[in-house]
Amino acid sequence: MAILVTGGAGYIGSHTVVELQQAGHEVVILDNLSNADERVLQRLQAITGKAATFYRADIRDRKALSEVFEKEKIESVIHFAGLKAVGESVEKPWEYYDNNITGTLTLVDEMRRHGVKNIIFSSSSTVYGEPDAVPVTEESPKKACTNPYGWTKSMLEQILSDMQAADHEWNVVLLRYFNPIGAHRSGTIGENPNGIPNNLMPYITQVAVGKLKELNVFGDDYPTKDGTGVRDYIHVVDLAKGHVKALAKLTPGSGLNIYNLGTGTGYSVLEIVKNFEEASGVKIPYVIRPRRAGDIACNYASAEKAKRELGWVAENGIREMCEDSWRWQKNNPNGYAD
Ligand code: NAD
Ligand code: WQD
Repeated sequence: MAILVTGGAGYIGSHTVVELQQAGHEVVILDNLSNADERVLQRLQAITGKAATFYRADIRDRKALSEVFEKEKIESVIHFAGLKAVGESVEKPWEYYDNNITGTLTLVDEMRRHGVKNIIFSSSSTVYGEPDAVPVTEESPKKACTNPYGWTKSMLEQILSDMQAADHEWNVVLLRYFNPIGAHRSGTIGENPNGIPNNLMPYITQVAVGKLKELNVFGDDYPTKDGTGVRDYIHVVDLAKGHVKALAKLTPGSGLNIYNLGTGTGYSVLEIVKNFEEASGVKIPYVIRPRRAGDIACNYASAEKAKRELGWVAENGIREMCEDSWRWQKNNPNGYAD
């Protein structure tokens, strides 16, 4: 039996494929390569020594999905495929709702048609909106999202929960990721954003490698330790391992389970800059800019439930996250094109 990994050529998906294969799972990747490079597949094989079966296909393509479920013996699906750029989702809401929601509805319909009712879904801390209190637990209320991307995650959580409530053969795990950074220690796979990065760490690494001049720090007047935004950064390899642990939850009768995947520690933007400088030995020039629309002051996780129920804890600290982000960027200044 195999695990189908949608979006398995992307940033978090590729790291999860490594951990799955290293834990002995058979892996089938399905990705339309809209935000990934096929060359990642050779890099994955070089790390694990195993080839994953790859289908270049779109999750909205019912026929292609059906063929995969007919050809492969799929036991469970880890569903990463989706569009994820917050700003772009404000400009192109239809494309985000179509890709993420129509895509997931098509995927789960083909899953049930083929009798596969185990799914792990990539959700996000964005579903908590601006939290009333930190750390946020899985019981903290979901709040209004500030952009269509966030709404797709919030709505898909609801859709999958309702499907599970109506049909108890479904086993659903919703994983709410905090802020994934870092890369595999080999420095051969990592985050490879198109164009100018939206997220903090890839922006910093591109400044460090000389592709961008300076970091824009969005706001220094938040009610936080140094006025800059505080987030729960988590090493992508720890996040990937969380998926392997969560697979064990997909047993008959397990129902619906929701977990935060974070470290429980918040770092400010300026703390990230300082830690990155120490880890890389490279100075990061920055300028303070106005706040970015839609940003919140502070968010970090309680990761107690994942520890208690999955036996999962993040093992890497901020030093490893910065070192590994830097190793990937330094060795691959142009991503997979090198
Ligand atoms: P990514 O863009 O690197 O990976 C997504 C992958 O899905 C890409 O390889 C892309 O080509 C593929 N894809 C997109 N639409 C598809 C479609 N219609 N059919 C088939 N493949 C498709 O992003 P990532 O950072 O690895 O994120 C993975 C998942 O985790 C996403 O669902 C994202 O929303 C979620 N998530 C990411 C973060 C983060 O900060 N990176 C945080 C929380 C949640
Ligand atoms: C982190 C901090 C910025 C860039 C987003 C999505 C969220 C999730 C993770 C998918 C903030 C500051 C950033 C820069 C900066 N993704 N910053 N200069 O906004 O916490 O979360 O990615 O689900 O849904 O919203 O992450 O990395 O963009 O920002 O000062 O150039 O860094 O203001 O305080 P964010 P981020």
